[in-house]
Amino acid sequence: MNPRSVRISGWGMYAPERVLTNADLERVVDTSDEWIRTRTGIRERRVAAAHETTATLAAIAGKRAIAVAGLEPDDIDVILVATLTPDYWMPSTGALVKEAIGNTRASAMDVMAACSGFVYAYSVADAYLRTGAFRNALVIGSETLSRFLDFSDRATCILFGDGAGAVVLSASEEAGGGMQGLEMTTDPDGAYMIWLPSGGSRSPATGGTLARGEHYVRMEGKETYRYATKTMATTALKAIERAGWRADEIDLFIPHQANVRIIESVAKGLGLPMDKMFVNLDRYGNTSAASVGIALAEAVDTGRVKIGDKIVLVAFGAGLTSGGIALEWTADPLCGERAAAVEPVATVREPMDWSSVDPIPERLRQVLEGGGGGPDVPLDDVVPGEPEPAHREVLA
Ligand code: ACO
Repeated sequence: MNPRSVRISGWGMYAPERVLTNADLERVVDTSDEWIRTRTGIRERRVAAAHETTATLAAIAGKRAIAVAGLEPDDIDVILVATLTPDYWMPSTGALVKEAIGNTRASAMDVMAACSGFVYAYSVADAYLRTGAFRNALVIGSETLSRFLDFSDRATCILFGDGAGAVVLSASEEAGGGMQGLEMTTDPDGAYMIWLPSGGSRSPATGGTLARGEHYVRMEGKETYRYATKTMATTALKAIERAGWRADEIDLFIPHQANVRIIESVAKGLGLPMDKMFVNLDRYGNTSAASVGIALAEAVDTGRVKIGDKIVLVAFGAGLTSGGIALEWTADPLCGERAAAVEPVATVREPMDWSSVDPIPERLRQVLEGGGGGPDVPLDDVVPGEPEPAHREVLA
């Protein structure tokens, strides 16, 4: 039977303990705290410890969201993990998370839409629940971007951080509430503005791709910035229109936390004051698919959301993608206190001989241990859209 509505019943987040400040980054690349703060708004970000992975971060946030919903792990019917930094190409991170949260019955999968991933995964779960196929879905955005950054590239390594945010969506017999408007876009014209050149079928990983650092995130910052400022406001507006609302009726926007200047320009584009925009990127940086989930959980837990509020989630990311959800909040924010009972630990099944793998990039490890950066990795100047050197090597 189709439910009368699909609502957020639980929320939760987890950010690794280790803080990486702008001052720490000054020791590894030619940058300054002042430059990073004024150009991005970021003061610090979190970095996963060696024993943590995208799946363990996701499992902690997911367990917290389930506790807040007042459910047991086995009440979850489907798990969707949005990530661009999975533990492995296969199995899916969702499959590992299923076991780590103690669920025995859900189906699980990953959703890959970069920083728009949380919004995309939410929309998929919402659609499942509206058909009546499932009662409860766990949607998690989780990232360990620190493992995919070139810590000799000051244009990217200062921007990103690690973390996870989650919601439980539940079918309800009460009318109203939950997602009222959705907008999603994908624009492959910008496919190579943010990309990770090698390790996929177009350019499989080889010694050469590794030496050229093609397993790290590459980005055209200025172009991405232009796209984000243009798209975020129009995507949000479309979602708001589909809900039958006006922008000035929205109580709180939860935008993707990439750059405070982008968020300011979205506020300006919508003709709204900055106090309608939730911002926490100063403490976490850009956590990609996790950012909207983390921001939503923090917004509720810090008293920024009350029952009946009109909220907009809006994100942009590699693809290029954008996604916006206009939703009505229905859960008691005080339920968030239940998350405190969930310890920040999660165990994910490992292959037998895996304990010797050190996942932390060498230059980051040196900073974490209090030293300076190592020698520069000689990066080949790969032109966006033309990953030629690696491909030629494969064909040869
Ligand atoms: N420290 C100091 N100087 C720097 C740094 C740094 N970390 N990075 C770049 N610079 C220098 C540049 O070399 C340049 O120097 P020059 O003028 O001598 O050539 C100068 O600072 C200005 O560089 P710009 O790139 O023009 O700086 P800008 O104001 O555009 O800010 C930034 C760069 C912060 C990356 C901005 O463009 C941005 O936020 N873009 C959007 C990025 C983004 O959101 N990406 C995430 C996408 S989401 C996903 O799917 C992963």
